[in-house]
Amino acid sequence: MRVLSGTQPSHDHLHIGNYFGALRQQVALQQKYETLIFIADFHSMNSVRDAELRRSYSREVALDFLACGLDPGRALLFRQSDVPEVCELAWYLSTVTPMGLLERSHAYKDKLAQGQSANHGLFAYPVLMAADILLYRADLVPVGRDQKQHIEMARDMAEAFNRTYGAEVLTLPEPHILDDVAVVPGTDGRKMSKTYGNAIPMFRPEKQIKKAVMSIVTDSTPVEEPKDTTAIVFQIWSLFATSEDRKDLFERAKAGGLGYGDVKKDLLSRLLAYFASMRERRADLEERPDDVESVLLDGAKRAREIGAPILDEVRQAAGFRPRFR
Ligand code: ADP
Ligand code: TRP
Repeated sequence: MRVLSGTQPSHDHLHIGNYFGALRQQVALQQKYETLIFIADFHSMNSVRDAELRRSYSREVALDFLACGLDPGRALLFRQSDVPEVCELAWYLSTVTPMGLLERSHAYKDKLAQGQSANHGLFAYPVLMAADILLYRADLVPVGRDQKQHIEMARDMAEAFNRTYGAEVLTLPEPHILDDVAVVPGTDGRKMSKTYGNAIPMFRPEKQIKKAVMSIVTDSTPVEEPKDTTAIVFQIWSLFATSEDRKDLFERAKAGGLGYGDVKKDLLSRLLAYFASMRERRADLEERPDDVESVLLDGAKRAREIGAPILDEVRQAAGFRPRFR
């Protein structure tokens, strides 16, 4: 079973919502499956239009995954752009992809609705994404719910290619929808998101984390009164607590006498303890850019060893000579 997922390098820091909603779960898969994680830097060309920014965001994503426990001994971590075969496959797929399929893409329709001008890259995005997956014959693709349609499109493209050339060369992938039971709320109670400015980062200086935690919105119930344990601060605090801790704190909250400020302080210390070793690992890796680069290059080399022979089969099915052997 081969698992693959991609992350766009479009951020300068992660928040705890990204961690609990995506990263932690993606990294955990390496224990059970052959896992490929790539930095979708070709995809980022649709939104990031600055070369230095792309380089720096790509570095951030690599550091985030390595800090959060991606083990290069078990899983492959690489940049999409280091495996250019993916563009070749994208072309083959685009020739069997009906316009109507791409026109139905939610992501494309949403962006148009937001008034973004449509270039071909944005329109063809699902084709490149299908190539990302099909190049490695990935079986399982762990993604957030918003990406499910793209996986379905990848299945359609694989099927269309196989049917057109009468060869079972491409594997139909299955989406593995990441568990979003616990959508992490932000400091203002809406979904935590970098675009809302309500995020709590975990890899920024302590001062910044503290500021975010202290800004969690609370009501004005006086300290001595019972507290509403569904309040945002309790929801976020619960991410770092055992069920026993929770029972304990919630009883104290209901009894009155517990201030929100104390809960925030406790949350901050739990959060820092939870991420302490990851913060350390990240700081250490930041000092060793050459080591990170060699992880990425080694990942790309191994990814190509998987992808190139598959691309050769695709080439042959379509009447081209194999290039990679
Ligand atoms: P943002 O909303 O900050 O821009 P992204 O859309 O880049 O975050 O999300 C990257 C991944 O992190 C997604 O796959 C999503 O599952 C996860 N994620 C983001 N925000 C949250 C959240 N508040 N709670 C749970 N998961 C989240
Ligand atoms: N489109 C995905 C996102 O924006 C990133 C991505 C690109 C991806 N290619 C992929 C995810 C292949 C899974 C598999 O989040």
